[in-house]
Amino acid sequence: MKPSPIERLKFLKKNWRWSLRRLFEEDPKRADKFWLDGCGISLDFSKNHLNREALQTLEAYSNERQLPEAIERLFTGDIVNPSENRPALHTALRSNSQASDQELHVSQCLAQMATIVETITHKRWPGFQSEPIRTVVHIGIGGSDLGPRMVCHALSNVQQDGIEVHFVANVDGADIEDTLKTCEPGTTLFIVASKSFSTLETMANANYAKQWLLEAGCEAGELHRHMIAVSANIDAAMNFGIKRENILPMWDWVGGRYSLWSAIGLPIAIAIGMDHFNKLLAGGRAMDEHFRSQPFSQNIPVMLAWITYWYSQFWDVKSQAILPYAQRLSKLPAYLQQLDMESLGKSVNIQGKAIKKSGIVLWGTEGTNGQHSFHQLLHQGTQLVPVDFIAVKEPMTSNLHQHQLLLSCCISQSQALLNGKTEADAINELKSQGVSTEKARKLAKHKAIAGNKPSNTLIMRRLDPLHLGALIAMYEHKVYTLGVMLEINPFDQWGVELGKQLSGPIFEGLSQGKTQATWDLSTQRLVRELSKKNHC
Ligand code: F6P
Repeated sequence: MKPSPIERLKFLKKNWRWSLRRLFEEDPKRADKFWLDGCGISLDFSKNHLNREALQTLEAYSNERQLPEAIERLFTGDIVNPSENRPALHTALRSNSQASDQELHVSQCLAQMATIVETITHKRWPGFQSEPIRTVVHIGIGGSDLGPRMVCHALSNVQQDGIEVHFVANVDGADIEDTLKTCEPGTTLFIVASKSFSTLETMANANYAKQWLLEAGCEAGELHRHMIAVSANIDAAMNFGIKRENILPMWDWVGGRYSLWSAIGLPIAIAIGMDHFNKLLAGGRAMDEHFRSQPFSQNIPVMLAWITYWYSQFWDVKSQAILPYAQRLSKLPAYLQQLDMESLGKSVNIQGKAIKKSGIVLWGTEGTNGQHSFHQLLHQGTQLVPVDFIAVKEPMTSNLHQHQLLLSCCISQSQALLNGKTEADAINELKSQGVSTEKARKLAKHKAIAGNKPSNTLIMRRLDPLHLGALIAMYEHKVYTLGVMLEINPFDQWGVELGKQLSGPIFEGLSQGKTQATWDLSTQRLVRELSKKNHC
């Protein structure tokens, strides 16, 4: 009987002598063949432990998992989130069509956003002292924060003049207090962004903001000049005191971590203008078309998913590093952590059956800073950590010299991971520096670098709204593809609920200095130690 794709992949991993150097030696055209282009993004995946047979087997497995049908189900609004009985139609947010009910709602919402953006940027939105709004503070957390925050930072070079946009997420009062130190109540507008309008952190910060305005002399009846909301829970937002016409919609068919394209992205539109926001959507749409239409062997999100699947399931890889070589993309790893880990960090499959290996840990920081910190472990540590290097082709400033330095660091890191340095080379290098043979032999053990470490290099043509939109949608579709391959629902996040439930009684315990006998002893001890009465 023919082995299944999974058996074949296991066999390949075990019996093939995987050497990146050898793969390049055997095929002089590898660097061209293992390269994909789409939507202004290029993917060099040649520095991976992959040969044609592994790729064909991954493709066979994807077909066995009915990936083509699953992609259609995503775009056509089928219930791809069965545990919450919902579709996941974030692609409708950027489809630029009005064919479905959802798309019609989206275009109405975009028109509402455009009016707000225009009113604010043309200084026609007066605060309670009749001065125009100049500062926007976006209050939200998780999916209602990370995407807009990351995009605003990434596109700071196209930020509109005369408007400042800040983000507050943490329930730690220092976050909002420090932010408001630089803001004037009379010229500050708060966007309270919460799909549920019940999230602890967001509600605490929104209440603080309201109080801050009232204490500065804003009458309750004037608060509508300073507070708007984005939420699927209109009643809760109105109960909080936000006027109906100041509430922009969110829908249950959009997951929080897929929502930056919706009104949750309002701070982006205010910061960079509606034209740029529409270009971001266009970039996402271009990647949607690529994902939906390209054969798997040419499909960038699918290829990225195959690579992660291959390493996480068969190479025992536990984490992946995301290393954008662009200062303005420094918030991308944190954004991708939620997108990937909240989606794929599951212990049962879609049928509720236990699974051994699901999502892996994503982490990283901007290059070149990480080189002087954790790259040591990437090069000589004992864990295998595949890397996504992200480079931007066009310089991001007029400083061409430093852009070339940046790119040379990026390329040389993947080169070092691939080739390493043999002990013999290390000995020769030391001897050429005048070190004695005996000493060189000893030292070379520490200086040798194994190499053979895999990486992808993604090249964005330019860091602009269009290409950033494509990059984000690329990772969204990578996560969806992995969900299909792992048989996981990537659209629910029940794991975060327990901590939220438990924090209520603990808050009461801390406030009243009381513990509950049903709590474990460590929790009781911590509550006693940190209770309010111990601080007074
Ligand atoms: O705590 C996780 C989470 O539920 C995320 O999935 C979500 O993005 C975030 O909280 C914020 O939720 P909300 O938009 O409802 O405030």
